[in-house]
Amino acid sequence: MESLLQKAFSPDLFRQQAHNLVDQLADYLEQAQSGSLEMVIPYKDPEESLAFWQEDYEQGQGDVTEFFSKTIQYSNHLHHPRYMGHQVTPPVPISALAGMLSSMLNNGMAVYEMGLVSNPLERILSELLAKKIGFDKNGGGLLTSGGTLANLTALLAARAAKTDVWEDGTNERLAVMVSEEAHYCIDRAARIMGMGNEGIIKVPTNELLQIRTDLLEQYYQEATDKGLHVIAIIGSACSTSTGSYDDLEAIAAFAQKHELWFHADGAHGGAVVFSDKYKYLVKGINQADSVVIDWHKMLMAPALITAVIFKRNDDAFRTFQQKAQYLWANQHSKDWFNSGKRTFECTKLMMSVKVYAILKAHGEQIFTDNVEYLYDLGKQFATLLKARPNFELALEPESNIVCFRLKSTSGTLNELNANIRKRLLEEGKFYIVQTTLGDKLYLRVSLMNPLTTETDLIALLDEVERLGKVVAS
Ligand SMILES: Cc1ncc(COP(=O)(O)O)c(C=O)c1O
Repeated sequence: MESLLQKAFSPDLFRQQAHNLVDQLADYLEQAQSGSLEMVIPYKDPEESLAFWQEDYEQGQGDVTEFFSKTIQYSNHLHHPRYMGHQVTPPVPISALAGMLSSMLNNGMAVYEMGLVSNPLERILSELLAKKIGFDKNGGGLLTSGGTLANLTALLAARAAKTDVWEDGTNERLAVMVSEEAHYCIDRAARIMGMGNEGIIKVPTNELLQIRTDLLEQYYQEATDKGLHVIAIIGSACSTSTGSYDDLEAIAAFAQKHELWFHADGAHGGAVVFSDKYKYLVKGINQADSVVIDWHKMLMAPALITAVIFKRNDDAFRTFQQKAQYLWANQHSKDWFNSGKRTFECTKLMMSVKVYAILKAHGEQIFTDNVEYLYDLGKQFATLLKARPNFELALEPESNIVCFRLKSTSGTLNELNANIRKRLLEEGKFYIVQTTLGDKLYLRVSLMNPLTTETDLIALLDEVERLGKVVAS
């Protein structure tokens, strides 16, 4: 008799379940593209959703095919062209297949022997990005689990380059400079590193929500006068709320003058390094000491896969210098093939396989096409908004992130737009989010799906106008 364990590993069962799942996912793709998938987001409130799954759980062991089907049905559908919410890509299908491959092989990466394929692929991908950024042959880096961890990794490398805290601890008050519009993970990273409120010097932004480079000197002097040791400056490329690009060239010059580490957070918009049309937005990025780029935002791969690229790849080896006798013999050797020496993760997903599969199947051009199509679409959306007097555009978009709101003669605009967004969520035919700029609430789209068209954008604006009348009445 076959044991439970033997049955669970049955090749025939796997073949059958996998075929079924692939069929279900292909149907999902087809429906999303043909318009027959009605809901982008089948929203339920959290308690209702929990009750639904608790009931499912209480039914005990059952048909996994049905579980897969329900998971598809009740999830947020990023492949629907009317998904325009958070900055997560609808993964290009080949990368999802590579996800299945890598989950099955499960080579944990920390040491070369546990990542015979994924470690070399990671090096190739890091060198590809280093070249795109404009670094010379000394450039290189690693992959890690998301932009948040990647930014923390880069800032730890900055600290290792500027201080001996890792070995000796310190009484010094360290600080970093960043725009007040930077992603919250920078603030979090600085706090994790013990810098506290004072150590996070938030520089105001201009009307385009880019860091005010004319204020850098003043903020730096004030910090040093207070006894802070500023170690790094971070440029956003681009910011999260509005997709605004900081002036990286000016930041680079400032960093050089004061011998600061210059880090570029390109989690979202660093992907323009693949586009001749849009790479002007990151002019100066080649002068950064470190750059973060998410493959799972603009570069079509499933979450989480983030690149941390260093101008001098050797810097990466200082970040986590530690003895781990059972893993590697020499703490100080710079072996690129032992992933765990340079990353937070010990066991790590075979991330590189998912990105490499995209390159193998479609070539580099697919990244260029994706970035250019979506950034063009952002501009197209702004043009549509400006042609409709009922709408206000928060600022001219530099990327595929666009903030706007419906105007009205009655009631407060914040309330009106918040209610519209709530209704959109409940109805589930579009998925967009909201953000607050100053004291104004805006609707916000991140155009992440390359199958979204102008027709979808017009339909969104029609729907927002219609809901505007509904919620106002
Ligand atoms: C500029 C920027 N940095 C960092 C992050 C965090 O990245 P992740 O969600 O991969 O942790 C984001 C996410 O939106 C971002 O926009």
